[in-house]
Amino acid sequence: MRMDKIPLCTMYIDDEIKKAVIDVIDSGWYVKGENAKLLEEGFAKFCHAKYGISASSGTSALFLAIKALDIGKGDEVIVPSFTFIATASPVILAGATPIFADIDLKTYTMKPKEVERLITPKTKAIMPVHLYGHPAEMKPILDIARDNNLKVIEDACQAHGAMAFGHMVGTIGDIACFSYFPSKNMTVAGEGGMITTNDEELAKKMAIMKDHGRIDKHTSTTFGFNFRLSEIHAAIGRVQLKHLPDWIEARRKNAAHYTELFDDVDGVEIPVEANWAKHAYHLYVIKTEKRDELAKYLKEKNIATGIHYYIPVHKQPYILDNYSEVKLENTEFCAERVLSLPLDPRISFMEIKRVVEEVKNFFKG
Ligand SMILES: Cc1ncc(COP(=O)(O)O)c(C=O)c1O
Repeated sequence: MRMDKIPLCTMYIDDEIKKAVIDVIDSGWYVKGENAKLLEEGFAKFCHAKYGISASSGTSALFLAIKALDIGKGDEVIVPSFTFIATASPVILAGATPIFADIDLKTYTMKPKEVERLITPKTKAIMPVHLYGHPAEMKPILDIARDNNLKVIEDACQAHGAMAFGHMVGTIGDIACFSYFPSKNMTVAGEGGMITTNDEELAKKMAIMKDHGRIDKHTSTTFGFNFRLSEIHAAIGRVQLKHLPDWIEARRKNAAHYTELFDDVDGVEIPVEANWAKHAYHLYVIKTEKRDELAKYLKEKNIATGIHYYIPVHKQPYILDNYSEVKLENTEFCAERVLSLPLDPRISFMEIKRVVEEVKNFFKG
């Protein structure tokens, strides 16, 4: 039991993972091998998707999705601003313009009404983010996309195992992208990502694009880059994937413990799960007016916390000049109040209890 210091999350490594790494090293086959192929098949199956395309990161997966949909200069993509910068930067790299939609205060995901308001003749796609593991409200988003002939790319980087309206994320839009960064619901102990789609043509296109646009060793027929996942990481991912369904349930159970214990705390708003959603609880995020003071207090008590996200994307110095007129009330409200508490499949009930008790102590003053 980790009673002294409680980390925000931990990464799972076992002997099977260590052996898988050694096996790849011994095999002498480091790229474009069986491990990536089997991880693609296994992860697609987990999502109930037809195709999986492994990638070097969630960011490169998103870039590949945008390029595969021929989105580029002069095009607009509607994205939330309350997300990690990597939702928007692939849009910018492709030469297109991110247009920022405000979020719902309860689910932290983009508001469908906002999306509708932001559509222009230049809009090519909507990119909802399943933030913290709570799915975006995909039903109305898909209706809007269909009515306006727009593509939908799910940023599912935080939402392995989440569901919306009875469907696994990763199969709802045209393309979905996942991250295997070390903190995520499953990881490859380094950088990695995965794309899922049910569209055969797009799947083929992205598989080619992530390998220099090549159809064979010597011939590039389209734009491409090296966005491949290495065999060592894929081998780690394959072992992690076996545990993923159990880990999602453990995350949900641990989140439920928090929610139960927080029942009577004034000053803290706990996360919700919409009645059409299955939350994958990548993060357990509370809102409080005293966020910074509480984070400092918990740190003194050896409890790690995180802020996702302190600066919304439209306010990042990197692109601020282009968006100085943009006002996103809910996004800015949440950025000042959200606090992520320790959560992973391995945190114990006693640790959760200690976190909640310390939060209660803080508010008692
Ligand atoms: C919402 C979101 N989008 C995109 C990414 C980018 O993924 P990666 O770090 O694997 O490039 C992340 C993860 O960090 C993320 O949380």
